[in-house]
Amino acid sequence: MTAAETPFEPKIVAFCCRHCAYAAADLAGTSRLAYPPSLNIVELPCTGRVDVLELLRTFEDGVDGLLVAGCLPGRCHYLAGNLHARQRVDYAQRWLEDIGLEGERLRMINLSAAMGAQFAELATEMAETIKGLGPSPLGTRRAAGEIPSIGCAACGDPAPSLAESAHDRGDGR
Ligand code: FES
Repeated sequence: MTAAETPFEPKIVAFCCRHCAYAAADLAGTSRLAYPPSLNIVELPCTGRVDVLELLRTFEDGVDGLLVAGCLPGRCHYLAGNLHARQRVDYAQRWLEDIGLEGERLRMINLSAAMGAQFAELATEMAETIKGLGPSPLGTRRAAGEIPSIGCAACGDPAPSLAESAHDRGDGR
């Protein structure tokens, strides 16, 4: 099978709050519920940790889809982190659409730690949506070297994104 014949496996990152969605993903794994193997989970203390720039930066890093998974409304351990995250996701979706990328590539979900089956179901649904949309043109252009890394504004050093940091540490945190 040549590279051109290889079925498209979307690269999806899931920013998961450790108090709920991360535990739900863990539960899905221990319950042997299947969800896409290409889903890269990044554990966060709260979804309130993500900002709009980070969301957009993750797309620039070449992901095809991005899931932000936080606690149920009213259950955020930091009171309103998930509500702020929802606003930022909505805002970033509009930015994606403004630059010609489909807003469906970014999605926020809310789960409790007991919702392992729902996590597997929503992650699979997300992967199917992204498969339908195809690879992100930003990732293709980044791979071709057309988009340089942003780096630190102060010193110019390449600054890793949340997803890259987790990957470099190899622990998904
Ligand atoms: Fe889970 Fe804030 S603690 S979203």
